[in-house]
Amino acid sequence: MTKRLWIETVGCQMNVLDSELVVAALRRQGWDMASAAAEADAVFYNTCSVRQHAEDKVYSALGRIRAVKAKRPDIVVGVLGCMAQKDQELVRRRAPWVDLVVGPGQLHQVPTLVEEVIAGGGPRIEVSLDRKAGSRDAIARSFESYDPDRDPAMRPTPFQAFIRTQTGCDKFCAFCVVPHVRGPEQARSPDTILAEARKLVAEGCREITLIGQTVNSYRFADGGRTHRLSDLLARLDAVDGLDRIKFVTNYPRDMTDDLIAAVRDLPKVCPYLHVPAQHGSNAVLTRMKRGYTIEEYLEMLGRIRAALPEAAVTSDFIVGYCGETDAEFTATLELVKTAGFKNSFIFKYSPRPGTKAFDRLPDDVPEEVKRERNAVLLAAQEEASLAGNRRFIGTRQRVLVEGLSSRDEKHGIDPGPDGTAQLTGRTPCDRIVVFDAPTRLVGRLVDIDILAAGAWSLSGLVADGLADAVPLDHLRLAGEAPELHDIALPAPPGRSEV
Ligand code: SAH
Ligand code: F3S
Repeated sequence: MTKRLWIETVGCQMNVLDSELVVAALRRQGWDMASAAAEADAVFYNTCSVRQHAEDKVYSALGRIRAVKAKRPDIVVGVLGCMAQKDQELVRRRAPWVDLVVGPGQLHQVPTLVEEVIAGGGPRIEVSLDRKAGSRDAIARSFESYDPDRDPAMRPTPFQAFIRTQTGCDKFCAFCVVPHVRGPEQARSPDTILAEARKLVAEGCREITLIGQTVNSYRFADGGRTHRLSDLLARLDAVDGLDRIKFVTNYPRDMTDDLIAAVRDLPKVCPYLHVPAQHGSNAVLTRMKRGYTIEEYLEMLGRIRAALPEAAVTSDFIVGYCGETDAEFTATLELVKTAGFKNSFIFKYSPRPGTKAFDRLPDDVPEEVKRERNAVLLAAQEEASLAGNRRFIGTRQRVLVEGLSSRDEKHGIDPGPDGTAQLTGRTPCDRIVVFDAPTRLVGRLVDIDILAAGAWSLSGLVADGLADAVPLDHLRLAGEAPELHDIALPAPPGRSEV
């Protein structure tokens, strides 16, 4: 009988891609997706270690699956990804009902391991070497790149896909666990990336997002030549059938002029740059070992603004980092008020065992201060985002239609008789747009006249002429656009956030 898999994914785009690849590998072995964890033959959690909260979510999910496993002991429970690499045996000490613990550098082994467990081989732990456990080469080899066939059904949408440019990270920011759990930085060859892009486009993919921990540090040496991200973008831009190319995450120091020029000159490359600043104070940036000053960050931002006045720049910030004073926090607040970020992801500092900050700097900002600073910074960003979005009212934007808006998703609203529903899509600069249109436009590029703006999204009407056969009296203005957390894409079968 066909065996069925359930997989839940926590964390970043890397994990979404890894889950897609694990599913593809198991499908090739004859597995299918289950419609619920309780009905599956194997339940996997693809995990994140970047903050404690992400780990706590997985341990609670493991607590819930324990009861299912008690009734059906033959279910294989697997913990995959970053937490597996970080905690190794500890996962099984805390949750002895876990059968498989597989780090991100060992995911290619999952199909074999799961069969071994089913055959009665007992629990298995497969992880890569620690960052101090050998030569760089040996450690790098123990993190095997894993990008075999893809599985369209596991992507957020069939017309959008991630492609990995590099695995790992060598920057070792003092707060960050990623270099420890994802291993040394290793670039994939441009030919491999191009071949993957062509294959995805042949399957109907229109938007590709290149992903790397520091995607703009991409370097691939090939004979006498070094290929950079700008070279890769130029080759991808020439792929017929592809409409949009994005790339995340950028490291401020590697935002070179050739890359900025590539974004300006290549029509398919979206003017959207996620370049996390992390903090506004030089003293904190030094304690974070980020490798740049705030003056250098602002100089970089100036070069982006000069070449790409319309580009959306976004950032990540950590509040309540070790020793953060009121004055230091105020420097971050000032940066958010003045830099014009389209949006920022704001995180409360979470100490991570194994990092320099954990070993050397006390986590001395009280939780309530972290919470307060988080709220203050979020409010400042919301104001800046709203001001930025208002500039779009009255403009016409080309939008890639992604799916039903969460309003129609959540309330189970069926499309009207002509298939009209509230849809959502994104502009090239990654702004979310909500509008009413027939669902057959999902996966297509449509022009929208923007009529209203909220902090986290825009709303408007399908422009005349483009949405053939949309009766205008069916279009209803969504009013003030909903909050970002109200907008969710339809979840593909068998995958859900923990
Ligand atoms: N380069 C990666 C960064 C991964 S971590 C990327 O692809 O985005 C994502 C964000 O989490 C970081 O930019 C940082 O703002 C935040 N972060 C990382 N470690 C953290 C910690 N220990 N506590 C709180 N936030 C953290
Ligand atoms: Fe983490 Fe810094 Fe790399 S934030 S992923 S160590 S660039």
